[in-house]
Amino acid sequence: MKTFYDYYNNKIQLSFEDQPFDSDPKHVWVICRFEKKWLLTKHKNRGLEFPGGKVEQNETPKQAAIREVLEETGGEVDQIKYIGQYFVSGKREKLAKNIYFAIVKKLKEQDSYYETEGPVLLNQLPGNIKSNERYSFIMKDDVLPYSLDYIEKIIEPTYS
Ligand code: GTP
Repeated sequence: MKTFYDYYNNKIQLSFEDQPFDSDPKHVWVICRFEKKWLLTKHKNRGLEFPGGKVEQNETPKQAAIREVLEETGGEVDQIKYIGQYFVSGKREKLAKNIYFAIVKKLKEQDSYYETEGPVLLNQLPGNIKSNERYSFIMKDDVLPYSLDYIEKIIEPTYS
């Protein structure tokens, strides 16, 4: 397990075990690929980030992940895999969030992208995300680099 602090100085615990902090997490985050590019969304307030959000009632976290990708990017998920979970200890709230890796097969234009401006495709993620004001705070802690490392070493070879 890794422990570090986020952009707002909240404590984050991250693990690549099977849902170590909460077996019924209410939040999901989805690192997405589409045609060899990273697929992000532009949140109207927070900026560029991988899609994600809250798990609704009568929905599994994986179903929420697939729905959030569609709602925020128009992406139809082809393959999706759980990779880990993190626990945010905020000043007021604590929450567990599942991280998924998804391959999107098609981008379908949506009438609404909810709280976002829709899909953003990037060949590469920039090296300066932590200091780049275009990026959301959820991209600015070590969840992202540890997850990318995990995908590169463990997950992606099995997808190609
Ligand atoms: P809504 O209810 O969706 O409007 O938002 P909220 O701001 O109440 O958010 P939420 O319940 O999703 O999260 C509560 C707090 O937890 C946020 O204000 C953040 O400080 C923190 N948080 C939520 N998600 C993440 C995340 O992915 N990474 C980090 N570092 N912090 C997060």
